[in-house]
Amino acid sequence: MTRPDIFYEPPKGEKSGLPHDPFKSFVIPRPIGWISTTSSTGQDNLAPFSQFTNVSFDPPTIMFVGHQSVYKRESKDSVVNARQTGEFVWNMATFDTREAMNASALESWNDEFPIAGVTKAPSRVVKPPRVAESPVQLECKVHSIVRIQGDSLVGHSDIVIGRVVAIHVKGEYITPDGLFDVLKAAPLARLGYHQYTAIREVFDMKMPFMYNDTVSGNTLGGEKGASDAELYATKDNRPLEEKQQEELERMQGTVTKRN
Ligand SMILES: Cc1cc2nc3c(=O)[nH]c(=O)nc-3n(C[C@H](O)[C@H](O)[C@H](O)COP(=O)(O)O)c2cc1C
Repeated sequence: MTRPDIFYEPPKGEKSGLPHDPFKSFVIPRPIGWISTTSSTGQDNLAPFSQFTNVSFDPPTIMFVGHQSVYKRESKDSVVNARQTGEFVWNMATFDTREAMNASALESWNDEFPIAGVTKAPSRVVKPPRVAESPVQLECKVHSIVRIQGDSLVGHSDIVIGRVVAIHVKGEYITPDGLFDVLKAAPLARLGYHQYTAIREVFDMKMPFMYNDTVSGNTLGGEKGASDAELYATKDNRPLEEKQQEELERMQGTVTKRN
């Protein structure tokens, strides 16, 4: 029997009525920020954060979110270390490293590298070590930390934003035509409940860019890095009506691509 549609308003304290809160199943998949840090006293730390994403690409910038630890009654160690030292490293978690990633989620005061059974590889620009088993690692310097107050202790969130200052990619994960081999790496991502996914399928689809916006369009697609001069050269000063008419005709398939 099909269940009735669900509508509820969290600010009013309303719940879904389901046996498990479905919220975390909606904004998915969440890539895993497998974050290594080193404390101000020199102890290494490793932990996964699925509230994690890319913020920007020029310059490359990423962020992870640590929720207040109910156990320790303060910010997660990863956040404390990043705040005190200004550095962290992101390690790509994959299907092959899933058990190690999970083992590193222990809220320990100790170094989780040996607990997870992964190998430390030295970083080149920052102090925290990298997970040698990961196909890609990003060395980061903290840009800023934003604190969001929560409704509960665990709801308090520290958003740690970091500039990527060095990038490591294992050669075996580069395809003959120079792309990152996503299917070989099988990056891991978190869904709701205790569910995960690993990337096993990809397909291509290009954005419908404006006619004279191939430069920034390509940059977004990762195809070509553009200088500011190139980006500004694409600035289109034609009247708005002319551009709207052109877009309309293009939608109707009556205009062939100019660039
Ligand atoms: C897949 C996965 C994703 C997680 N995502 C988060 C998260 O986004 N934020 C968070 O605070 N804790 C998250 N956790 C729990 C932390 O990994 C855990 O609290 C960890 O021990 C924190 O370590 P730290 O105190 O050494 O930083 C996650 C755990 C797992 C297994």
